[in-house]
Amino acid sequence: MRKTIIAGNWKMYKTITEAIELANGLKREFFKLDFAAVDVVLCPAFTALSEVAEVLTETEIGLGAQDIYWQEEGAFTGEVSPLMIKDAGCQYAIIGHSERRQFFGESNETVNKKIKAALKSGIIPIVCVGENLQEREANKTFKVVEDHINNGLAGVDVSDIANLIIAYEPVWAIGTGKTATPDQAQEVHKFIRDLLKKNYGQDVSDNIRIQYGGSVKPENIMQLMERPDVDGALVGGASLKVDSFSAIVTKASEVVK
Ligand code: PGA
Repeated sequence: MRKTIIAGNWKMYKTITEAIELANGLKREFFKLDFAAVDVVLCPAFTALSEVAEVLTETEIGLGAQDIYWQEEGAFTGEVSPLMIKDAGCQYAIIGHSERRQFFGESNETVNKKIKAALKSGIIPIVCVGENLQEREANKTFKVVEDHINNGLAGVDVSDIANLIIAYEPVWAIGTGKTATPDQAQEVHKFIRDLLKKNYGQDVSDNIRIQYGGSVKPENIMQLMERPDVDGALVGGASLKVDSFSAIVTKASEVVK
């Protein structure tokens, strides 16, 4: 059985003070949460990582960065290494988010290097894949997702694959309020699971967790989570408020499959 995992991607929101306040609010809400049923991860901006880590000390809430560079250190102005985010308290890193692919030239090749670097430092990658609207309309969804998976994960040790997390995020659903229907999400999640089975075998495919991302809200999390291959969510906008994020996490933790 795969444990549900809900991550909040705070993107470029929240000053340090605001991030501490949000983390504290969530910590209070999750005081009674059944962490045996759900993993929760918060992904603030780099500037707030250590402070949020401090708030989360002695809780079961995980911490992730929104990106990393693939070198351990060096003359790479503006970049942050896996070792640095680990030092700041992270266990996870989002890699290959569509906004990074779209606005910052991220490619399957850079995603691949970042995944390997994260794993080498003991950071769990949350690898984002997904098609944009044009690609969906041209019936290229499966092809794009297959490319993201095959090239993004190329050369990664099979023993590491089951430990990473895939986030299927159709670009047309991100921040648009236009969620994929549970059927649309399930169809692609199943495709990804079958592809991983073909590439890495039954065990990996049975154990790897695949999150859905794109306008996840308290109102749609249940229907998405009820689908057999949806193992959690990567939440943007709705992760910025205590009420909506805690409602999503609580509802997701209650779905029994
Ligand atoms: P959204 O963002 O929930 O605001 O659509 C999701 C994401 O970008 O990870």
